[in-house]
This record gives sequence, structure tokens and C-alpha cells, in this order.
Amino acid sequence: MNETIKLLLERRAVRAYEKKPVSREDLELIVKCGQYAPSAMAIQPWHFTVVTDRAILDKIVAANKEIMKNAPEEFVRAMAADPDFDSFRGAPCAILISGQDDRPMTIADCANATDNMAIAAQSLGLNSCYIASYQVCLNAPGGETLKLELGIPEDYIPNFALCLGYGTEHPEPKPRKEGTVNYLG
Ligand SMILES: Cc1cc2nc3c(=O)[nH]c(=O)nc-3n(C[C@H](O)[C@H](O)[C@H](O)COP(=O)(O)O)c2cc1C
Repeated sequence: MNETIKLLLERRAVRAYEKKPVSREDLELIVKCGQYAPSAMAIQPWHFTVVTDRAILDKIVAANKEIMKNAPEEFVRAMAADPDFDSFRGAPCAILISGQDDRPMTIADCANATDNMAIAAQSLGLNSCYIASYQVCLNAPGGETLKLELGIPEDYIPNFALCLGYGTEHPEPKPRKEGTVNYLG
């Protein structure tokens, strides 16, 4: 099996990390791989916000908890009440991916960039967790101020993030669904 196939099969969502920071050199390489993802008509409708200051991530988590504690779903309120709840899954840093809101394939393009970065991180010996739920507070009424503080351009919508770090857990892959492919010819 070649190295690329191995990385694709071995990458897992990791939700527990060492405190050890990710080097600037690795982060720059990872973002570069995001920027080299395919995008419809090469529009590249993305913006990457690299956050290595855990206090900034904690501020986003606190804003999310404020919203979650009034959620209609009981399990979401329970998550908000958990002092250990962390939208960023205990990672020391995260790359937020925001997309230009008026482009036709923005979500797909941002998803491509996020996945490219997850694989790049894996190849550098890092672990990651692809997340979306962190953005609730940024896209809720009043989220504009926090978006501005994060330097997210005005017409961009945060949609995904990649939590990054050195994992302390090694989850087994979830079983993959059967019957999701047919071959013709
Ligand atoms: C679009 C998207 C959104 C996700 N959002 C979250 C999230 O908010 N929190 C989280 O812990 N994991 C999140 N995940 C990770 C998935 O739960 C994970 O990829 C899935 O369980 C499969 O596990 P694997 O990545 O190890 O193969 C998200 C993944 C994707 C692709």
C-alpha cells in the first residue's frame, strides 16, 4: 500500500490531545495544502484563520455554551452544562475555514480544503478533528463582533474548522457502510 493510501485509510477524528503546540512551519504547510485543494472554477472562495492561542478558542467555546444552554434539545443543554465541553475537542490549535457567501460551490470548496489539510496534518505526524459545530456562535445574531475580532472577512461565513495537535487517543475506524458503490462496465 502506498503512503498516500495509508494516510487516507488511517486518518481518524481525534478528540483528545497533548498540550504540545503545533509548529508554525507545520501550520504553514498544512494551510498551503488547503489552498491547493480543488475549487469550482478555481474561485478559491475560502479564508483560513489559524488560531494557536487557546484563550481565543475558549472564548468561542464560551459563546457557544451560552447559546447551547438554551437549546431545545436536552442533550445539547447537557453538553453546555458539562464543564469539560470543548467545541475544539481539547486541541491546542485550530484552523477555521470560512467561505465567501455568494459563490456557487463555497461549501464544497471549503470542505475540500479542510480535508486536504486533515490529510496533510496526518502526513506530518499530527492528528486532527474536522468540525462544524464550533461556528454556531459566529453565525448567530451578535456573532459579527467575534468574527471581526478573529479577522474573518465581512462577506465570509465560518463553516468548518480543523482541530490540530498531537493526539492522546487512537480511535478505531467506525465501520464503513455497505452497499454505497456500484460499478458499471
Ligand atoms: C462536515 C463535518 C462536520 C463535523 N463536525 C464535527 C463536530 O462538530 N464535532 C466533532 O467532534 N466531530 C465532527 N466531525 C467529525 C465526524 O464526527 C467524524 O469524521 C466521523 O465520526 C467519522 O470518523 P472519522 O473521521 O474518524 O473517520 C465532523 C465531520 C465532518 C465531515
